[in-house]
Amino acid sequence: MMYQTNSEQETFDFGAALGAGLQAGDCVLLTGDLGAGKSVVARGVASAHGVTEAMPSPTFVLMIPHEGDLPVYHFDLYRLEDPDEFYQAGLQEYLGGDGIAVIEWPECANIAPPGAVRVEVLRGEGDDQRRIRVKAPENLQNRLAPWRID
Ligand SMILES: Nc1ncnc2c1ncn2[C@@H]1O[C@H](COP(=O)(O)OP(=O)(O)OP(=O)(O)O)[C@@H](O)[C@H]1O
Ligand SMILES: [Mg+2]
Repeated sequence: MMYQTNSEQETFDFGAALGAGLQAGDCVLLTGDLGAGKSVVARGVASAHGVTEAMPSPTFVLMIPHEGDLPVYHFDLYRLEDPDEFYQAGLQEYLGGDGIAVIEWPECANIAPPGAVRVEVLRGEGDDQRRIRVKAPENLQNRLAPWRID
């Protein structure tokens, strides 16, 4: 399904609507260009689970855990040079466990857990428009109906 937002706030709200339908063990794979809005979606997802602290980019540390009503593990794998580093660092432990994993640049580690929600953020027309493609079960897609465009 394809969705559209017209501001950072809308994309945050979109992420929050998606996040509200997620539970422990779920995984969101966020793809899209640099600056597309992946981190905005990630912050929205976390906010739905009561994370109120700042969420700085985990680019250099690969993963930052945030404590909400459940743990939200925020990954950014952009700097990974070799997919093996992900496993060597033991990061697979955070997938499918007690929290929600939200992963930016999953392609850098070839991460594709079965059942993961896929979110691709694309630029639209003008500086502030984004198109967001989501592959997820129907119950999650239904939560995103306000932003649906197809
Ligand atoms: N509709 C929109 N949705 C999301 N962000 C938007 C939108 N319009 C403008 N922006 C701007 O786009 C930028 C998105 O930045 P963000 O850090 O989320 O990108 P990213 O995809 O995580 O990039 P990176 O690959 O570097 O991690 C922000 O500066 C935000 O203000
Ligand atoms: Mg980011």
